[in-house]
Amino acid sequence: MSALAAKPQPGNTVRVVLEARKIVKSYGHVVALDGVDFDLRAGEILAVVGDNGAGKSTLIKTLTGAVVPDSGEILLDGQLVHFKGPLDARHRGIETVYQDLAVAPALDIPSNLFLGRELLSSGILGSVFRRLDKRRMREGAAAAMAELKFRLPSINSLVENLSGGQRQGVAVARAAVFASKLVIMDEPTAALGVRETGQVLELIRAIRDRGLPVVLISHNMPNVFDLADRICIMRLGRRAAVVSPKTHTMADVVGIMTGAIKVEGG
Ligand SMILES: Nc1ncnc2c1ncn2[C@@H]1O[C@H](COP(=O)(O)OP(=O)(O)OP(=O)(O)O)[C@@H](O)[C@H]1O
Ligand SMILES: [Mg+2]
Repeated sequence: MSALAAKPQPGNTVRVVLEARKIVKSYGHVVALDGVDFDLRAGEILAVVGDNGAGKSTLIKTLTGAVVPDSGEILLDGQLVHFKGPLDARHRGIETVYQDLAVAPALDIPSNLFLGRELLSSGILGSVFRRLDKRRMREGAAAAMAELKFRLPSINSLVENLSGGQRQGVAVARAAVFASKLVIMDEPTAALGVRETGQVLELIRAIRDRGLPVVLISHNMPNVFDLADRICIMRLGRRAAVVSPKTHTMADVVGIMTGAIKVEGG
């Protein structure tokens, strides 16, 4: 079994959207990331798996500006970037969804979708009085949900009246609407039931099919095998291997994760 099973065939050109080289991040004596390489290709869902403490969240945080690495390089569309905070990454088109349901329950769906990026009325009403253009936000929210084929009771529902899956759907849709380069999700279905998870997985697929690559951290192997184009396996702060679900089994992936299967360079 080769760790390079997911390598493209010669002649196929693969565009790398986001790349990290030799990322190191320590917390005191704990080396969370020990020289990690990473690449996300155009048009793919890349799953990131690994045991607790393997460094998945820390890696993702360095890619979204939430953590500044001690050393290493990050390239977006081949250009070196130095994110100093999450807003830097957002401005460059990277959106992130976290496992805790990051929505405002007391607001309706359009207000949640445009939270922090509200559309203002035209003219002096917007520029001076900061009046919100509720109609444009409602239309935008409805169009986004329709494009992603995500069914909701009514676009005017308050988010507190939605199920957990529907709420997370709103958070995922928000990321999809504002991301221009890629979407990163850290355990987006961890708090959800089986049916609700299914809805969110469909949404992730819709985002990929719409042309945005997705990085998906998950502990759920069946979900990973169902969705991912490639699987990046983290172990002890390193990337142990990148495999394809077409050539590797769940047992292979778990074996590499736990160290039971040794991989060249891993
Ligand atoms: N802010 C922090 N301060 C100190 N140590 C940290 C911090 N963040 C992460 N670590 C440590 O770095 C290592 C990697 O943690 P990380 O959260 O990236 O793992 P993970 O793969 O996301 O795990 P999980 O599956 O449990 O979410 C762990 O040993 C963790 O304790
Ligand atoms: Mg984590």
